[in-house]
Amino acid sequence: MGKGSGYGKVILFGEHFVVHGVPGVVSATEAKTDAQVTKTQNGITINDQRTGSKGYAEEKRLQQLESIQRMLKAIHLPANTAMIIWIGGNLPGFSGLGASAASSVAIARAISEEFKLNLADEKINEAAYEAEKAYAGNPSGIDNTAATYGGLMWFKKNLQGGPDTVEHLNVHTPSEIVIGSTGKVANTKAMVEGVAQRRKQYPQKYDPLFKRAGELALEGRKALEAGNLKKAGELMNENHTLLQGIEVSSKELDFLVELAREQGALGAKLTGGGGGGCMVALTPGKVLQEKVAKAIENAGFQVLRTKIGAQKP
Ligand code: MEV
Repeated sequence: MGKGSGYGKVILFGEHFVVHGVPGVVSATEAKTDAQVTKTQNGITINDQRTGSKGYAEEKRLQQLESIQRMLKAIHLPANTAMIIWIGGNLPGFSGLGASAASSVAIARAISEEFKLNLADEKINEAAYEAEKAYAGNPSGIDNTAATYGGLMWFKKNLQGGPDTVEHLNVHTPSEIVIGSTGKVANTKAMVEGVAQRRKQYPQKYDPLFKRAGELALEGRKALEAGNLKKAGELMNENHTLLQGIEVSSKELDFLVELAREQGALGAKLTGGGGGGCMVALTPGKVLQEKVAKAIENAGFQVLRTKIGAQKP
């Protein structure tokens, strides 16, 4: 049997904009997805034991099958490679936390071990990027990169197809965060396509938002590196306004973002593809983290309490 893991991720600055070559800041979560792969005689069987939003695994089933086919092609294994894939781990199957990329990285690593391919991280990342196309259509690569390498990173997609810019960041002050899930499974592919279409249709509205998103990512990076969490929080708030501007937020996301701010979060924004999925609140210290997490839970939503800047890749 081969085994592998992939990190979840939370985007602090730049989702959607990153698809178009704007930089972003992403943190891997401590929570991971694990996979085990065992060779067998016939077909591909998937045993998905992940917990999380009701219906997550069912909703993503077809995309998951396509993603595995794409991955097999990327690592030069036949499409009919017979295996049993078990998926589990402590990363909840919430939309927005990079669960698809985490599972692709975990599966690619487990396949590599079971079939003795000895794939380096770079190859695992490439295979997971190909797999991500099934879920996101035209992914930036930020999710699979975070899932492969972990830590906190600066990411800029190379729109010419060469290597992306990936820089590991050192955060001055690690901070607690709260991730709140709307419980709604979002279709990342549809969200990404929608932004691309509207950007083409309404350049006067969208171009300034894209320009500001790039500035925000850089200011956000500097604030995190300098340990200025208050500033980082304000920039996250502004990033949420930009995401509302490109129409990827939702009623539930706006409600949770507002609730977190009312409870004292330094900043809050949707994270990931939006349209449902998750939001993230910057809540330094266990006391503030608990206050915000409890308020979200009391409103009937699930949360993940985690940290940014503490985990080493
Ligand atoms: C999804 O986690 C992040 C998006 O920016 C898509 C991508 O970058 O591939 C919405």
